[in-house]
Amino acid sequence: MTERILITSALPYINGVKHLGNLAGSMLPADVYARAMRLLGHDVLYICATDEHGTPAELAAAEAGQSVSAYCDAMHSAQAEAGESFKLSYDYFGRSSSESTRRLTQNFALALEANGFIEERTSKQVYSVADGRYLPDRYVEGTCPNCAFEAARGDQCDNCGKLLDPVDLINPYSAVSGSHDVEIRDTNHLYLKQADMSGRLRDWVESHTSDWPVLTTSIAMKWLDEGLRDRSITRDLEWGIPVLNADGEVREGFEGKVFYVWFDAPIAYIGATQDWAVKTGGDWEKFWRTDKGADATRYVQFMGKDNVAFHTLSFPTTIMGSGQPWKLVDELKAFNWVTWYGGKFSTSGKRGVFMDQAIDIAPSDYWRWHLMANAPEGSDAAFTWEEFQASVNSDLANVLGNFVNRITKYCAGKFDGKVPEGGSKTDAEAWIEKELSERLPRLVEFYEAREFRKAMADTRAIWAAGNEYLTQAAPWTHYKTDIDQAAIGVRYGLNLVALFGILAQPIIPDTAEKILAAINIPSDKRSWKFGEVQDLLNALPIGHDISAPDVLFSKIEDDDVDTWTEHFGGQPT
Ligand code: 2FM
Ligand code: ZN
Repeated sequence: MTERILITSALPYINGVKHLGNLAGSMLPADVYARAMRLLGHDVLYICATDEHGTPAELAAAEAGQSVSAYCDAMHSAQAEAGESFKLSYDYFGRSSSESTRRLTQNFALALEANGFIEERTSKQVYSVADGRYLPDRYVEGTCPNCAFEAARGDQCDNCGKLLDPVDLINPYSAVSGSHDVEIRDTNHLYLKQADMSGRLRDWVESHTSDWPVLTTSIAMKWLDEGLRDRSITRDLEWGIPVLNADGEVREGFEGKVFYVWFDAPIAYIGATQDWAVKTGGDWEKFWRTDKGADATRYVQFMGKDNVAFHTLSFPTTIMGSGQPWKLVDELKAFNWVTWYGGKFSTSGKRGVFMDQAIDIAPSDYWRWHLMANAPEGSDAAFTWEEFQASVNSDLANVLGNFVNRITKYCAGKFDGKVPEGGSKTDAEAWIEKELSERLPRLVEFYEAREFRKAMADTRAIWAAGNEYLTQAAPWTHYKTDIDQAAIGVRYGLNLVALFGILAQPIIPDTAEKILAAINIPSDKRSWKFGEVQDLLNALPIGHDISAPDVLFSKIEDDDVDTWTEHFGGQPT
């Protein structure tokens, strides 16, 4: 049955091109899933955007010596380009700074307040006289009240790790100007009353305990069990979405304040869908408005584990508390971390690879395969150059690449590049048919369940079965005595190449394209509407022209590993 599926991957922060860990934990699996669902014939919309507000954007822009808006423009383009280079098949890659997200954010805030889920409260905050502004937590530094470290940040002490309230810092100063001329003043902020939503949130999360990954529900339940706290959803910043009243003017007392980045970022999923609709003439409401058909949409989110609380608690509070008919997420796939040799990726420490660097080192398919085959699903997964090398050399080059090359070259050499006729089935054909009739349905199930490691392992096993089939069928041996018997081996082999190309599309789209072009498969014959395996293995018409593609994968040498280790760092320090 054709379904309508909305897919979003966590919106990457604007403050720099993302590293492989970010890619592997949200955008890439969302893309692989989107591609697979399209191949299965579903009506898919895959939306992502840059997350452009908040202190990190201001800090990164200041470091780059640019205005925040110029910085965001440049970084949005850089991230869009990085996504393209990894063949991320977004239907739309938007921006959280767009007008639609602004409008939606105001709408949500006003609706939440009208329904009693937003309250204005007074709190104490550090005001910098020299800077003429209240300082966000990270912009205040001082001596840690816990360990006496002298350069503790307002939100957390980097020395002892304690979470701090900036007003508790001893000898506080502004991290913006370095001025010690700071005062603690009363100021007002808006609070999202999450605690009042606890019961509904708990019921909703519990209703998903059987269909969400344990990682997702366990994080949500941990927060619920600890007791939800109301959260302030405004900040003292210039850059962001201003807080307006119902007349569209700045709310009194909220001059110089904007919404907290985590309040508007998930709203940008909706905003970006609206922007997609403007661009394409599509209907955004059937994805988001339950009064306009969105109940029939399946909404699937992808994200790293640090984002789960925001997507299972605070964003749902926004949606539910608005009292408006917005769509809630149906399925939430969360990932653990990809680590750098077991440690953290670090830009400053020159450890780890970022998307733009990765693509200079190796084609995107190499990364896509490796990261998906080692997806951090059950636990964190360490990236190492040695394992990257093994994935490429053994899975891609030896298992898939060799198979495709061996049989297409043989056909080109001995059968004039045409699918040959003749021969009768032997145990070898029966064996591969049985293998595929077991593995193919399972593979589709793994994709549908977003069990990526299993899907990749099954794909690899199918490629290996192709090699095993050729060993059993041995057309090159038969060729000397019985050309017909060689023909069936070559014919099955070529049909397997076509199938492998078709199956590879979501994971390694460039290579899949090369294979399918060589085997001459028109685009309307590349879907995942699999019929009987026997028909699948006889799909290519007799006499159909094929060619041998150029070598599909070049191996990674030990020298490459040494060079990269030296350049990008190996062991974490
Ligand atoms: O963790 C992050 O990178 C955030 N920018 C994710 C935001 S997801 C969504 F809610 F926008
Ligand atoms: Zn400390």
